[in-house]
Amino acid sequence: MRFLVTAGPTREHIDPVRFLSNPSTGKMGFAVARAAAKAGHEAVLVAGPVALKTPRGVRRIDVVSARDMLAAVMDELPAADVLVMTAAVADWRPARTASRKLKKGEMKPVLELVRNPDILRTVKKSLGASRAKKVIVGFAAETGEPTAEASRKCREKGLDLVVANDVTAKGAGFGTDTNVASFVSPDGSIERLPLMSKDALAARIVKRAVLWYTVDGMKSRA
Ligand code: CTP
Repeated sequence: MRFLVTAGPTREHIDPVRFLSNPSTGKMGFAVARAAAKAGHEAVLVAGPVALKTPRGVRRIDVVSARDMLAAVMDELPAADVLVMTAAVADWRPARTASRKLKKGEMKPVLELVRNPDILRTVKKSLGASRAKKVIVGFAAETGEPTAEASRKCREKGLDLVVANDVTAKGAGFGTDTNVASFVSPDGSIERLPLMSKDALAARIVKRAVLWYTVDGMKSRA
């Protein structure tokens, strides 16, 4: 099967030396791409700016902004069987990006922002009726109990699986090598997983996606 995985943060530039972003390090997404390749699948990784080495057997596309990430995902989507969106995509970007460094005196104390596209919603819309042939996995990183929000995102974005985690929980969150997650399914069922390495969680996500793909494939052939 062919896995398309996004990882890391996006950067939304104000000028060449200033940007809006978040603390994502890309570890979870790189682990998913590595796990997919290890399990014998093709893996393409669309990575925001991170300091990680490309896993063996993975094709990597580097991007900076949410709009770059959207373009790369849309280019790679037709060939993918599974999309795993681990990236922490910035929801907003500055209304204007200067092409040269702004002097502090040229900047206003309030920054005007505009919404970035939602990559998962755009993907879902573009797939339309053919969606049954692809498995779409989202993440929900929350501060506090994440499963209610994850269920809402699963429903609203029409996902096949949401991996929910509380980024403030011990052993979870940005930059850690472990995670504490729950699998939230479209039927509302929740599987709570124990603390485990991001590599172990990645392997479970890959297994689950393969299972979904097989079940969906059987459904569409029936
Ligand atoms: N996501 C996306 N495009 C965006 C923002 C998020 O595709 N512009 C994806 C993320 O990669 C993740 C999922 O949507 O897989 C949920 O991300 P999150 O930031 O939790 O979702 P939002 O819809 O932005 O939720 P909120 O209402 O909490 O801001």
